Amino acid sequence: MKAIDALNEANKIAFSPFVFQTVYTMLELGILEAIHSAKNGISIKEIENKTNVSEYGIRVLCEMAESAQIIEQKTENKYSTTKIGFFIVNDKMTLINLYFTQDVCYNGLYYLKESILNSKPEGLKVFGNWKTIYEGLASLPDKVKKSWFDFDHFYSDNSFDDALKIIFKNKPKKIFDIGGNTGKWSIACTKFNKEVNVTMFDLPGQINVAKKNIEKIKSISNRIEYQKIDLLNPNSKIPEGADVYWMSQFLDCFSEEEIEKILLKIKENMSVNAKIYIMETFIDDQRFKAASHSLIATSLYFTALANGNSKMYSSSVMKYIVNKAGFKCINEHHLKENSFHTILELELKK
Ligand SMILES: C[S@@+](CC[C@H](N)C(=O)[O-])C[C@H]1O[C@@H](n2cnc3c(N)ncnc32)[C@H](O)[C@@H]1O
Repeated sequence: MKAIDALNEANKIAFSPFVFQTVYTMLELGILEAIHSAKNGISIKEIENKTNVSEYGIRVLCEMAESAQIIEQKTENKYSTTKIGFFIVNDKMTLINLYFTQDVCYNGLYYLKESILNSKPEGLKVFGNWKTIYEGLASLPDKVKKSWFDFDHFYSDNSFDDALKIIFKNKPKKIFDIGGNTGKWSIACTKFNKEVNVTMFDLPGQINVAKKNIEKIKSISNRIEYQKIDLLNPNSKIPEGADVYWMSQFLDCFSEEEIEKILLKIKENMSVNAKIYIMETFIDDQRFKAASHSLIATSLYFTALANGNSKMYSSSVMKYIVNKAGFKCINEHHLKENSFHTILELELKK
């Protein structure tokens, strides 16, 4: 890279929050949509008529967006979206990431340095006085909660169909859904198979929400049980009785040491024929640069907001911990298109 280009890149970084807030504001005020939907470009005056935002406001936003190559002037004084602008308006992953960044992370990331220095999610104080975001998840403001769940579900929902086929290959009768959150996976399992029973494990706030969701569905609700549990509590136990232990996007909520302890908790009462399935978006298993970049950035959400000590892991790291805890990875399922996930299938070392 030439020095002049590197200087340009360095200054893009120096002002990157300005660009981010510009994009967010243009989306929220309908400016980006107005530009994107105009076939032959649109002038500032025309945007003003469409959106009721002042000419000054539109001008400063458009100048920033043009400099960041989100919009361009194909005809003088008429703005159109570029390819980057196209994806910001139309790509679901980009929009979900953007609203997660704005609503959940933006204010808390200000405390990243303190979080790193203190190994605590110091940014979480913008929402409440909890040790981890999971303790407060159910009581976050609605807009924040929506962006958190949209983000979480986007990355797990589109893997469920493939995952169900893998998990039900051995016809399990009892599944433990550990870190089941809103109950989506427990619901999916009991709908997929009319005989299976599921016990969902999670913190009290999430169990209460899941229970409400599940009780509405009469055809399955009698096959789902609940266990309120804090897996970080050294006295908590995972009982015996499951054929399958399912953990989706769950172990990334913990440090390497904590993951090992959770696996050992399962091991304590696990039967020899049972299986553990870990579904994760591993950073070293991604086909697209945008996906691995999103995951690497998500690690900093864990640092500054979620718990201060976890991250998105590489599959090699997870397999190392699994092995250390006394399990063998017997299969590694890379899910198909539209999915970012890998499922590690484990059994006890014999
Ligand atoms: C990122 S969500 C994953 C939800 C779901 N399994 C999925 O795939 O979308 C992590 C879940 O782990 C739960 N969790 C986090 N820390 C926990 C703890 N110490 N004990 C029990 N559950 C915990 C959270 O409450 C949350 O529901």
